[in-house]
Amino acid sequence: MDLDGIEITWLGHATFRFRTPDGTTVIIDPWLEGNPACPESEHTQDRVDAIFVTHGHFDHMASAEPLAGAHGAPIYAIHEIAVYLESRGVDGVVGLNKGGTVVGPGGVTGTMVDAVHSGGISGPDGRIVPGGTPAGWVLAFPGGPRIYHAGDTALFGDMALIGEVFAPDIALLPIGGHYVMDPPQAARAARMLGVSAVVPMHYGTFPVLAGTPAELAAALDGSGIEVAPLRAGVPVT
Ligand code: NI
Ligand code: MN
Repeated sequence: MDLDGIEITWLGHATFRFRTPDGTTVIIDPWLEGNPACPESEHTQDRVDAIFVTHGHFDHMASAEPLAGAHGAPIYAIHEIAVYLESRGVDGVVGLNKGGTVVGPGGVTGTMVDAVHSGGISGPDGRIVPGGTPAGWVLAFPGGPRIYHAGDTALFGDMALIGEVFAPDIALLPIGGHYVMDPPQAARAARMLGVSAVVPMHYGTFPVLAGTPAELAAALDGSGIEVAPLRAGVPVT
């Protein structure tokens, strides 16, 4: 996996932290405290400059508010999630929609793309609040790779278009099954995207998320696409 100086740390489940050579630190789908796959040492963060959110389910957004509050970092999310967070008094929220691109701190850009899933926000009282539709993000790092975080999604044909138009180098793909793609579907996604490497995510957190990186690797055998499973909390450069 060629990261061109960008450090990636999987924080378990769908949460990833990216750090550029100048220290700019970006977190996507933050779920730290309460995430069984997140090391306890990562429940608080030293530095966060920007937060990206794919959809409103708790396992993708539960730590967005506390991190934004602690670090003064903007949250980038779909319009309905942005309005919801603003209604809760969160400052610095940037709402957009699919097709839009934001330029974040350190020149990191994020383009919001489609995902096939559901998008309700897990509200504080346990009820679901309408949260628009779910998204994925293509993040581009200055001088570094383009990384596609698929969010939670089923397999869909327009992944080929995401590959064609945004040319991601690396895809972070859910493989657990049940709520998201399973490994054979994720393998098909990787082929459509034309990426050189896949980092599997959204597996193993709960028993129902049964897909494994080994199954993904088997499904991509001979494709030339690298499967690069990460260990939660261990940075990779
Ligand atoms: Ni979800
Ligand atoms: Mn999820």
